[in-house]
Amino acid sequence: MQANIKVRRFNPETPSKEAHYQEFSVDVHESSSVLDALIKVREEVDGTLALRCSCRASICGSCSMRVNGQATLVCKTRLEEVAPNGEQITIDPMGNMPVIKDLVVDMKLHWDKVRAVDPYLRPGGPEPDGEYIAPNEAMEHLVGVMNCIMCGACVSDCTALEVDENFTGPAALAKAYRFVADPRDDTTHERLGKLNEYPHIWDCTRCYYCVEVCPKDVAPMDRIMKMRDMAIEDGYTNTPGYRHTESFVSSVRKHGRLDESRLAVDSVGWTNLPGLLDLAPVGLKALRKGKLPPIIPHKAEDHKQIRKIVDKLEDEAK
Ligand code: FES
Repeated sequence: MQANIKVRRFNPETPSKEAHYQEFSVDVHESSSVLDALIKVREEVDGTLALRCSCRASICGSCSMRVNGQATLVCKTRLEEVAPNGEQITIDPMGNMPVIKDLVVDMKLHWDKVRAVDPYLRPGGPEPDGEYIAPNEAMEHLVGVMNCIMCGACVSDCTALEVDENFTGPAALAKAYRFVADPRDDTTHERLGKLNEYPHIWDCTRCYYCVEVCPKDVAPMDRIMKMRDMAIEDGYTNTPGYRHTESFVSSVRKHGRLDESRLAVDSVGWTNLPGLLDLAPVGLKALRKGKLPPIIPHKAEDHKQIRKIVDKLEDEAK
């Protein structure tokens, strides 16, 4: 079959330093992966094409890039899946990380974030003679998260990171969960306290992209949500994130819909004067554009029914 690929090229050594797309067509075997096609281009058409790969078997995590706009391991992605009829596919480097050359990105930001969550076991008590052993049943729930190969696909497509590069991001937070939930770790409370602050667990926008693109089903967003629950259960409730969730539920219970004005103020905190003043320009801008939510919120027609649903869900969660 023929692989028709359009690759984003960037060479920092060219005078213009401008990125551009280049199209290639190569003959490959029907069972070929996107990586096979890219390697063929590099070996037979243009030896200057820069890309990263190693194991070619979805193990090392080095070949993440975007295929048709979505991050994936190209060694795992079969051409027949993405271009069954020989359609042209577009390959870009991963997002949210600076491009070094063509499809190779600088992953320093990603590694710095992983290091920042203290990704080591901190057991308490006397040191055992051998290893720190935990029963299998206590570790089973961690198997999924330990499958992470640090490929960076979730980091690439994280929409929260796109607007705030300080956000710890899905890969590092999934790694944080791995130790927060490890029964041998003795610092869970301290870890949760740190993760409860900006720019960690409460800065995820729940867009779900990290879950969608993860090639190993680590489900980083689910781990982040779990840590939110754990932090609340551990008593960390004086945070904008917690107040946001409380206000959200109370508004839906009361009005059957979201009271956005109240949500913003509740999240910041009524006694936090500098925070409230920061909201003023946003409010004025919304007012000018005719987007200011009503001061007295409208009730949904079926708000009583909605309240029953909220109460039922809360009862079930107890
Ligand atoms: Fe190792 Fe793709 S080359 S994961």
